[in-house]
Amino acid sequence: MNNIHVLNHPLLNHRIAILRDKNTKPELFRRTVQEIAEFEVYEALRDIPTYEETVETPLEKTVQHKVNEDNICLVPILRAGLGMSDGASRILPGAHVGHIGMYRDETTHEAKEYYARFPKGIENMEVLLLDPMLATGGSAIDAVRQLKARGAKSIRFLCLIAAPEGVERMKKECPDIPVYIGALDRELNENCYILPGLGDAGDRIFGTVD
Ligand code: PRP
Ligand code: URA
Repeated sequence: MNNIHVLNHPLLNHRIAILRDKNTKPELFRRTVQEIAEFEVYEALRDIPTYEETVETPLEKTVQHKVNEDNICLVPILRAGLGMSDGASRILPGAHVGHIGMYRDETTHEAKEYYARFPKGIENMEVLLLDPMLATGGSAIDAVRQLKARGAKSIRFLCLIAAPEGVERMKKECPDIPVYIGALDRELNENCYILPGLGDAGDRIFGTVD
């Protein structure tokens, strides 16, 4: 089964172009990350189960299909994933939110975990793991392992930009995890940054510099 979904839509591509532009300021950058996250959540949840509820229109009763938001958990990978969870929460205001803190060691480029907190009952929830960048894949794969270790059974990974190297690792090491990608880029550079990419997602969302 092909679990890799590269989303392709003019409105999404337009927003990716805004993110790539080095002159885009943090305020517009943040808003655009949120908007893309909304699109991606919409796509990623196309097949989630719904329940029936009878509602009354001004004219008659009708059986409708609703989503149990209480059964959905957003898990941003800190810190850049927070930009995406802000957007995802807008269309899923009732979803739970867990957090995984990761940073990439600047020399080895390996992901290191520094924080993890999840809501009770995550093992039965539909988990949306959120991180703007899939570069080497180390952070996403480690986060998936953490979630599985806590019993999560249904996990989908959403990112804005992916490198082929990260996608290949996800296919190999997490073949059961559907991956939703805003744009699939060319390659990683010698510092494991994505090309053409958008630079350091966390720094651009929060306006920080090293
Ligand atoms: C960035 C990004 C991912 C990770 C991707 O985080 O948000 O978490 O790098 O790289 P990988 O696929 O090679 O693991 P970073 O470590 O810069 O931390 P930050 O979110 O705090 O900026
Ligand atoms: N993390 C980022 O923020 N950007 C990249 O290009 C790679 C990893």
